[in-house]
Amino acid sequence: MDLFEYAYKNQKKEESINPNIEKPLWKNSQYDFVSTLEELKQIALECRKCKLCLTRKNVVFGEGNPNADLMFIGEGPGKTEDETGRPFVGLAGQLLTRIIENGLKISRENVYIANVVKCRPTVEMKGEKDRPPDEEEVNACSPYLIRQIELIKPKIIITLGNPSTRFLLNTKLGITKLRGNVYYYKDIAVVPTYHPSFVLRNGGENSPLKKDVWEDMKIVLKLMQDLRIKSYKINDK
Ligand code: URA
Repeated sequence: MDLFEYAYKNQKKEESINPNIEKPLWKNSQYDFVSTLEELKQIALECRKCKLCLTRKNVVFGEGNPNADLMFIGEGPGKTEDETGRPFVGLAGQLLTRIIENGLKISRENVYIANVVKCRPTVEMKGEKDRPPDEEEVNACSPYLIRQIELIKPKIIITLGNPSTRFLLNTKLGITKLRGNVYYYKDIAVVPTYHPSFVLRNGGENSPLKKDVWEDMKIVLKLMQDLRIKSYKINDK
């Protein structure tokens, strides 16, 4: 980290202090011994630490640039992700891809996309209706996410919806209260925004929430400028 970046981060940390936020937990991964994402993925593919392993078709570890400056974190795989083993490839994924490529002008392959839990949570484990992960599932799975963050070392994390935002910021506050600001997890700027599925459920393609997501992406663009993160154009790697 150069001096500029150091000074900038500290200044931003001061500015971001919000009395409503509990102190973020500087959680440690139990996978410190793992030194590559590929190695971590191989462990996750065999995981049986929670009940979601009983109903999953595939473990959705995450994908993207292993050295990404920007990391997006959702809550957990849905049906299409469970079937394909890839994060954010259903309808919500298509919206997320447009946010990344049209809004931030970065190709999807140049960011990293992951979830808090790597296996699909469904209501009554029936594989029909998706639900957010419960506390036990988040606790079992989060060491993978923590080590992913440690290995990727992103400069900015965009949390999508409540589970990832609450987990990283160690708060029970909801996304509506939290979005619109920058927080910090360890040294990494965290910008919470609405989950693309929530946007689509509230008005579809014409959702009024899209305006708020765009406001949040403007915060990301400003941070990228301040942190001198290159805005890779589509297919310009
Ligand atoms: N919703 C998520 O939170 N993650 C995915 O990968 C897909 C949908």
